[in-house]
Amino acid sequence: MSDTPYDEHFVSWFRAVTPYINAFRGRTFVIAFGGKAVASEFAKTLAYDVNLLVSLGIRLVLVHGARPQIEEELREKQLESKYHRGYRVTDAETLDCVLDAVGSVYLEIEAMLSQGLPNTPMANSRIRVIGGNFITGQPIGVLDGIDMQYAGKVRKVDVEGINAQLGLGNIVLLNCEGPSPTGEIFNLQMEEAAEAVAIAIKADKLVYLTDSRGVTDNGGELLDAMTADEASQLLRDADWLSTDIMRYLPCSVRASRAGVGRVHLIGFEQDGALLRELFTHDGVGTVVTRESLENIREAKPDDIAALIALIEPIEQEGILVHRPRELLEREIDHFSIMLHDGIIVGCAALYPHSEDEAELACLAVAPDQREWGYGEQLMRRIERRARKMGIKRLFVLTTRTEHWFVERGFKQGTVDDLPAAKRDMYNYQRRSKVLFKTL
Ligand SMILES: CC(C)(COP(=O)(O)OP(=O)(O)OC[C@H]1O[C@@H](n2cnc3c(N)ncnc32)[C@H](O)[C@@H]1OP(=O)(O)O)[C@@H](O)C(=O)NCCC(=O)NCCS
Repeated sequence: MSDTPYDEHFVSWFRAVTPYINAFRGRTFVIAFGGKAVASEFAKTLAYDVNLLVSLGIRLVLVHGARPQIEEELREKQLESKYHRGYRVTDAETLDCVLDAVGSVYLEIEAMLSQGLPNTPMANSRIRVIGGNFITGQPIGVLDGIDMQYAGKVRKVDVEGINAQLGLGNIVLLNCEGPSPTGEIFNLQMEEAAEAVAIAIKADKLVYLTDSRGVTDNGGELLDAMTADEASQLLRDADWLSTDIMRYLPCSVRASRAGVGRVHLIGFEQDGALLRELFTHDGVGTVVTRESLENIREAKPDDIAALIALIEPIEQEGILVHRPRELLEREIDHFSIMLHDGIIVGCAALYPHSEDEAELACLAVAPDQREWGYGEQLMRRIERRARKMGIKRLFVLTTRTEHWFVERGFKQGTVDDLPAAKRDMYNYQRRSKVLFKTL
């Protein structure tokens, strides 16, 4: 078989997603979506993507809503749909409509996830979908003098029960009904139910499939990442946010402050949005995190395998000098690493040669993560570490990246300017350029 560009694209794509596959295996995700997504033409492909996530070993809880379907039931019975402060005022007749609508949406989702037709991504899949009384509800009570009746909020989540099902590899499918110990059923808000479940089971990710493509700024530009503090500031100031984002964003802020690693808001109307958000660097929607997604820290012995995976291909190209694993194990303290969403995307090392002189070495950023400024951030980190140690001058040896360093304040020098020990080890075959920077 010949290597067509398609094959090359496929192979490099597959390799690019491998770190995500490894990072996500055994993680717990909660995915929440409204009844609009279930009724849409995208429901089938979403089911395929959910199936793929489970196949990759992700523990999955789905939480669904049914607003349009409830509205439809109410219309058919000529009942009025009433909301107060975002909650449906739910009298006994409305509750009947809620139960009918939610019940049939649940069955629809179950049927979609049970497909196994050949020639579809669901072929050979055998996912067990488990529902149940995992959420206990309680009445909201009287709000501003209005009796909300069967409108409820989450009282308790059966964490043990959910974990037992996830441990068996089953998908847990929850809806927006919360039975109470008194035998009544309360109508919950889907987004609040998902928030409560994600917090209770300590989910790594909570994903809201929204009508909008994510959170936007006042010019309509997508905001791809924000911290919980930035999101709550936006909720105070922004009058341009759509109604669905106004519903999802407060839940996202609370969930991420309560320890859910990442909360994603992504439009369900983009084919493959779920996969693109989860398995690519840029994603397609908005991610809310407690801290910033990017994170630089000093390397630890646990990072060695990922560090080797990062630098080995660059060593093979002859750009970096080969460092055997034993050497890395001995010298791991010299390294700083850059992480994006928990995945190592770059590294750099600092080797002091005397009291005031040190080498910046092994600066590398994964090829598909370049030009995001990671290289520069790593260089600055090394400079900061060096200054703290009282280093006055940094040097670097490079065969192909001279200009990159020169543009960042390094000046050309000669081998003779190197500290004696380094000079003696200089490899005249590599003929690296020698560059210096005064700190
Ligand atoms: C050099 C390297 C670390 C830069 O990482 P990065 O995260 O892409 O860096 P930044 O995003 O901070 O900088 C990107 C800029 O550098 C430029 N750049 C990248 N490689 C360059 C090179 N060899 N020479 C000159 N400029 C270069 C890019 O074009 C981009 O320019 P722009 O900002 O004008 O668009 C990365 O390309 C790499 O890992 N290279 C292989 C290893 C290496 O050469 N290490 C240095 C020897 S120790």
